Amino acid sequence: MKNPYLPYPVRISKVEIATEDKTLRTFEFEFLNREDAAAFTYLPGQFAELSIPGFGEAPIGIASSPTEGDHLTFTVSRAGKVTTRLHNMEQGDVMGVRGPLGHPYPLKDMKGKNIVILAGGYAVTTLRSTMIWLLHPENRDNYGEITFIYGARTPGMLLYRETLEEWDQRSDVKTYITIDNEVEGWDKYVGFVPQIADQVSPEPDNAVALICGPPIMIKFTQPVLDKMGWTGDQIIMSLENRMKCGIGICGRCNVGPYYVCKDGPVFTKAQLDELPKEY
Ligand SMILES: Cc1cc2nc3c(=O)[nH]c(=O)nc-3n(C[C@H](O)[C@H](O)[C@H](O)COP(=O)(O)OP(=O)(O)OC[C@H]3O[C@@H](n4cnc5c(N)ncnc54)[C@H](O)[C@@H]3O)c2cc1C
Ligand code: FES
Repeated sequence: MKNPYLPYPVRISKVEIATEDKTLRTFEFEFLNREDAAAFTYLPGQFAELSIPGFGEAPIGIASSPTEGDHLTFTVSRAGKVTTRLHNMEQGDVMGVRGPLGHPYPLKDMKGKNIVILAGGYAVTTLRSTMIWLLHPENRDNYGEITFIYGARTPGMLLYRETLEEWDQRSDVKTYITIDNEVEGWDKYVGFVPQIADQVSPEPDNAVALICGPPIMIKFTQPVLDKMGWTGDQIIMSLENRMKCGIGICGRCNVGPYYVCKDGPVFTKAQLDELPKEY
């Protein structure tokens, strides 16, 4: 059995500045060994520890979908030691990826249901993965209506702008892209994600909502969904607690009886309502 602390060696195959303020970069990685690519089987919602020798590891949600091929995509905010080092690395540099870690979104249980995705800021990463996976021709017919609501502060802070445009053109997705305040030339939505959710008013019947965003967005989105009759079992969220081992051993990430790394990071709102607010 592979040592769970050992990362797979990967090469940075692409780096892009992702937002106008340059605090986010999107990295694509290729595995150095074919057998490692085959062993790294993942689904949307999972994360990995990005590992840089001499600097440490940082848990980051996987933004690519396995339906896109063998490469892995991560969008990383420059926050501290590891992520700052990563922002200084270039195409061709070699580092490590340890994972996949955690549970994915419950894609099997979501079959046959309408899906509502609510994303704010750069927490959209694993929901990008989910959208790409759901819209893949092999998966799309297994799901009902897809509604995608995503907000950022300004147009330049939206991630994956070309992909958003593609989704906007599709007839089988209702896409609502929003920014906080009016900007000249902006022809999509204006307002915070909870306000847009209120206007769109997605029906809870036979539906599941996936929410990922900053705490303030989640706080104000919950009452909007409650008002429409959504229950805690229908709302699925992903936590980003501080982590170290990522595999349920060090006890660094626990909330109530759960290790967020191993039992999550994906939880239903009903599960989280039972927990102390340590997340
Ligand atoms: C499951 C999961 C998925 C994540 N996905 C992404 C992602 O897709 N993109 C992304 O940019 N980031 C993501 N994060 C957050 C990311 O892991 C942290 O920003 C990163 O660990 C910082 O590492 P560092 O060594 O650069 O910073 P450090 O030097 O460790 O810390 C820098 C500062 O950030 C604080 N900090 C570190 N980790 C966290 C945390 N988890 N929550 C709040 N504050 C923290 C530290 O206290 C310190 O003030 C995710 C976290 C988790 C647990
Ligand atoms: S990070 Fe070690 S137990 Fe979760």
